[in-house]
Amino acid sequence: MSMFRVKSVEQSILDTEAPEHRLKKELTALDLTVFGIGVIVGTGIFVLTGRVAKETAGPAVALSFAVAAVVCALAALCYAEFASTVPVAGSAYTFSFATLGEFPAWIIGWDLILEMMLGAAVVAVGWSGYLTSLLESLGMPLPAALAGEAPVFNLPAAIIVLVLTAVLVMGIKLSSWLNLVVVAIKVAVILLVIVAGLFFLNAENYRPFIPPAVSTPAVEGLSAPLIQVLFGITPVAFGVIGVFSAAAIVFFAYIGFDVVATAAEETRNPQRDLPVGILSSLAVCTVLYVAVSLVVVGMQPYRELSEAAPLADAFKAVGQTWAASLISVGALAGLTTVVMILMLGQSRVMFAMCRDNLLPRGLARVHARYGTPYRITILLGAVVAVLAGLVPLATIAELVNIGTLFAFVVVSLAVVILRRTRPDLPRSFRTPLVPLVPVLSVLACLYLMLNLPVETWLRFLAWMLIGVVIYFGYGHRRSRLAERPLKTW
Ligand code: ALA
Repeated sequence: MSMFRVKSVEQSILDTEAPEHRLKKELTALDLTVFGIGVIVGTGIFVLTGRVAKETAGPAVALSFAVAAVVCALAALCYAEFASTVPVAGSAYTFSFATLGEFPAWIIGWDLILEMMLGAAVVAVGWSGYLTSLLESLGMPLPAALAGEAPVFNLPAAIIVLVLTAVLVMGIKLSSWLNLVVVAIKVAVILLVIVAGLFFLNAENYRPFIPPAVSTPAVEGLSAPLIQVLFGITPVAFGVIGVFSAAAIVFFAYIGFDVVATAAEETRNPQRDLPVGILSSLAVCTVLYVAVSLVVVGMQPYRELSEAAPLADAFKAVGQTWAASLISVGALAGLTTVVMILMLGQSRVMFAMCRDNLLPRGLARVHARYGTPYRITILLGAVVAVLAGLVPLATIAELVNIGTLFAFVVVSLAVVILRRTRPDLPRSFRTPLVPLVPVLSVLACLYLMLNLPVETWLRFLAWMLIGVVIYFGYGHRRSRLAERPLKTW
């Protein structure tokens, strides 16, 4: 049973005070909200909107954004309760350790690597794509071997990762300051799209708002969604079903609000500020996304939207090239902070795992001057740079979604469990309507997971299996909890 030993909330909080593992507490609720927006707004809105409107939802893509926002809001309410109760860097990893036990916690920590490390690499490649096209339009194309569609090594992606790694090592305040500047630029660009776009709307483009469903050629084999394989549901595009399938894809656009919880140990008043940061960044992004998608599908017939740069190209289509260039620059800036904060979150989760000896403890050492876990950050930066440079990431982007959704499922369940096992804990934020909200959150996340392709599930299971092997080969024996009295449930 030792694999289900739980680490008490009190112990987790106590561990954050050890001098060699103490992070600098500098962030406020506003910093956290801006962090949230910095990591949330990225590829999802700047790229996916076009593809999804064109292929799956039509003008109703705005509804898909709203549906995905509801799913995220349910999970966010659960994250907010946990973050206010257990303000420790590991986020879902620490929450699971306090409720389900060591092995499930390790599995979640391992799973979060899919969300954050892989997510950072995916978005870095997207960044490189924007840079390449911007340089091309300025008459300075990059060599095809080093950038573009199928490079041998994606150099810009690797370089941006390394630069951001340096920023992260140099301190949370510097990262937070850089983030603030970039978020201001990206929100300004999005507001520009919304306001300027209003002048080019054509009511015709909204008719029909939900295009009639059409059956699409059945996707065979491993690329078929699991729901189709399990329940024989034939794939359709558009129609009401299309709105929901599209929600599973645009879910990616909201990934990141949960990463706010990983900044718990760097927050001055985490009990109060984490729930504010998580919920308000999600709320701001929802409003922006629904508005932007409504405007963009009003500017151009949905069938003509571009797949690579839909926001910029919608302005080109109405003859406003100046706006298109501004949007490309904004997107480029915007993607930078997504990569940075995903790596930040990943380093903090690994930090918590090393502190518990589930990964080598020495990696968790904090830099004497900068107050950051510099060893993990540098190691992580090197791995992400190689991944972003070498791996063709389009197919593994869906792994990011499945990894994130799985963590949401576990955190939602854990809220219910902790209410039963530790009703006494002070909770400065309480998820409303427990167990209804957590249960709905679990069901909604599972539904979105079912919409992902079979091959994504297989890759996900393979990744988890590697995690199981590492746990039994390493963490289980070395765990710090093994040195302490056991408490199992
Ligand atoms: N939500 C982030 C993005 O859309 C991951 O890029």
